Amino acid sequence: MSKRRILVTAALPYANGPIHLGHLVEYIQTDIWVRFQRLRGHRTIYICADDTHGTAIMIRAQQEKRSEVALIAEMQQQHERDFAGFDVSFDNYGSTNSDENRELCGEFWRAIRAAGLVKERDVAQLYDVQAGTFLADRFVRGTCPNPRCGAVNQPGDNCSVCGVTYTPAELIDPRSTLSGSTPEVRSAPHLFIELEQLHDFLETWTQAGDHLQPETANYLRGHFLGDPRSEEGRKPLKDWDVSRPAPYFGFEIPDAPGNYWYVWFDAPIGYLASTLQWCKRHGEQFETWWRDADTEIHHFIGKDITYFHTLFWPGMLQAAGYTLPRKVHIHGFLTVGGEKMSKSVGTFVMAATYLEHLDPSYLRYYYASKLGPRTDDLDLNLDEFVTKVNADLVNKVVNIASRSAKFVQQTGLSAAYPDDDGLFARAAEAGQEIAAAYEATDYNKAMRLIMELADRANVYIDSQQPWVLAKQPDQVDRVRDVCTVGLNLFWQLAIYLSPVLPELARKTATLVGQEIVSWSQSQTPLKGISLNPFEHLLQRVDPKKVAQMIEDSKPTDAPAADTNAAHQDSDQPLRDEPLAETITIDEFAKVDLRVARVVNAEHVEEARKLLKLTLSLGGDERRTVFAGIKQAYQPEQLIGRLVVMVANLAPRQMKFGLSEGMVVASGPGGADVFLLGVESGAQPGQRVH
Ligand code: MSP
Ligand code: ZN
Repeated sequence: MSKRRILVTAALPYANGPIHLGHLVEYIQTDIWVRFQRLRGHRTIYICADDTHGTAIMIRAQQEKRSEVALIAEMQQQHERDFAGFDVSFDNYGSTNSDENRELCGEFWRAIRAAGLVKERDVAQLYDVQAGTFLADRFVRGTCPNPRCGAVNQPGDNCSVCGVTYTPAELIDPRSTLSGSTPEVRSAPHLFIELEQLHDFLETWTQAGDHLQPETANYLRGHFLGDPRSEEGRKPLKDWDVSRPAPYFGFEIPDAPGNYWYVWFDAPIGYLASTLQWCKRHGEQFETWWRDADTEIHHFIGKDITYFHTLFWPGMLQAAGYTLPRKVHIHGFLTVGGEKMSKSVGTFVMAATYLEHLDPSYLRYYYASKLGPRTDDLDLNLDEFVTKVNADLVNKVVNIASRSAKFVQQTGLSAAYPDDDGLFARAAEAGQEIAAAYEATDYNKAMRLIMELADRANVYIDSQQPWVLAKQPDQVDRVRDVCTVGLNLFWQLAIYLSPVLPELARKTATLVGQEIVSWSQSQTPLKGISLNPFEHLLQRVDPKKVAQMIEDSKPTDAPAADTNAAHQDSDQPLRDEPLAETITIDEFAKVDLRVARVVNAEHVEEARKLLKLTLSLGGDERRTVFAGIKQAYQPEQLIGRLVVMVANLAPRQMKFGLSEGMVVASGPGGADVFLLGVESGAQPGQRVH
C-alpha cells in the first residue's frame, strides 16, 4: 500500500457564535476520517480556523463596545476549547484574520485580476444613515413586496411567510434593525468575479472525476450550470460580488481603497493560510501541500455552503494556480427529535453544555452510526442516543473486555494464541471491508460491521463461560486461553473503533501496555503479555443527564418584571423600579393597544405563573399570548372577556411557545393583578386611545 499525502479541512466556523451539536456533525465526521487515514499510515493533516470577518462581527463588537479583534480572540479560545473537549485533532487551528491570510488573499486577487475575471459595477444597497453603514440583508426588516402576501417584519432577502426572494431595496417600508431608522438606497461600486468565464472548467470539474457526490453534481448541473445536452441548454453563471464598501470588518482591497473583500472571498483562502502557519511551525514546504498534484486535498462541509465550495472556490484555486480539491465531502443537516434545533425547547445544545453532562465518546459514536456517504440530513433522537450507545458500546463492546480481563489480570495472556475456531482471523479479514467503509465515509456501515464482530465475540464468551471455568482449579489454562481470545477480539474492535473512539483506544492501550498506532495491529493477536490493572472503559449513558442537558439548554433570560402588562413567567421578585426615561407622545403612540376577546384560556403545565390565552382581534386574527396571571385568574373566568392588548409587540419565543403580544393589567403582581376592563360595547380589534 503506497503512502498518500492528504490535507483535510473542515469548514471554518463563524466567530460570531458558539459551537453547537450541529457543527459537531462536521468536525467529528472529519476527525474520524483523519484519524482513520493516520492509522492507515498516510501522512494526513487536519486544518481549520475561525472565520472572523464580516458585518455580523462588526455589529456585535460595536454593540458590546469592544474591538473586533478582542471579540474574535475570545470566540476563538472558546471554539478551540470546545473542539478539544470532543477530541477533534486539528493539526492547525488558525484565523482568517491573520497576516498569512491577508498575504494570500492579495496573491489570489492579483491572479484573478490578471486572468481578466474582475469587473466593476454599481450596486444599490440599503444604507443606514444613523449607523453609518450599508446594511447586509439580515439587518433589514420590512413588509414583503409580494402583493398577495404583505407579511410584516420580514428580512431583506426572502419572506418567511410566502417564501419569495427579493432584494432589500424592494422591501416595503424597510427598517434598519441596527438603529430602527428608515434606510435609504445608496449606490456604490462593487467588484465582481465573472464566473461565467470559467463555465467550461467548472462544468468538467464538477461533473467528472468523482470530486463530488453524485447528488451534488446533479444538483449543480440542474440549478446553476445547466445541461448543454438538454433543451434548456447551459445556464450562465452569475457574477459574484466579492467587495463591500467601508465600514466592513475584513481586509481592505489593496487596489480598491475603501473597499473590502467580502467574507466569503477570504474565508476559504483561510484553509491555505492555516496550512501555511502549520508549515512554518514544522519546517514544511507550503508548495508541497497546495501546489503538488501528489497531495490529496479533501474538504468536508455542510450542504448549506455547497455553492461556495463547488463553484466559487474551485474557480479561485484554478485562477491562482493551486491544487484543486480531490473531493468535497458534503454532509446533511442535524435535526434533534425530527425538528430543527430550537433554543426554546432546549434542543439547540452548545458543545460546552453537552460536555458539562455527557461523555464526548457517546456523541462521536452516535454520529458515526448515523453518517453515510450521502448528503441526507441526520436526526439526533435522544432516546435512541441513550439506547444505542448503551446497547452497542457498553453492553457489547466494553462488556467483552470486562468479562475477559479480570480472569487474566494475574496470569497475563497465553504465550501462544489459542485455537479460537478462526474467530480472530475472520475479524482480521473483515478489517478490509471496514476500512473501505471508513474510506468512503460510510461510517454507518463501518459501525454495523464492527458490531457484528462484537456480537460474535460475545457469543464466544457466553459459550465458554470463563466465570464458571474460573471456579474450577483444574481449568486454569482453559480460562487463560478463553480470556486471551476474548481480549484479543476486544483489542481488534478497539483498533477498528479508534478513529471514532480515541478515548477508548487510549484506555485500551493502557490496559495492554501498547499504543494503537496502526490499523495493521488488528491483524496479529497479542500473546504472552501481562495486563495493567483494569479500569472502567466507558460509563453507561444516564438518561437523567441527557434530560438535564436539554433543561440547561433552554433560555433562562427573563425579561424585566412586567406587572403592568403581564407577559412572562418571571420569577423575579418585585422591586421598586426607578421611573424610566421619558418618552414622547409620538413614541407612546407607537404602542398599538387594541381591544381583544379572550376566546380561550388554559393552564400551562409546569409554569407557575402563566396562562395561555388565545385572543381574537376581530375577523380571523388570532393571537397566542402567555400572560403571568395564573395566581389571579382561573382560565374559565377569562373566556369570553374583553381585554386590552399590545398588538404590535415583537413576538417572543418562550419555553412554552411563541407569545405574540401582551395583555394590559395592573397591580403589584402575584394574586393581585387586575386585567384592564373594557366596556362591553367595544369590538375586538378596535383601537384603544
Ligand atoms: N464560516 C462558514 C464556512 C466558511 S468555510 C471557508 C460557515 N460557518 S458556520 O459556522 O455557519 O458553519 C460551519 C460548518 O458547520 C458548515 O459546514 C455548516 O454546514 C456546518 N453546520 C452548521 N450547522 C449545522 C447543522 N445544524 N447540522 C450540520 N452541520 C451544520 O458556514
Ligand atoms: Zn411574503
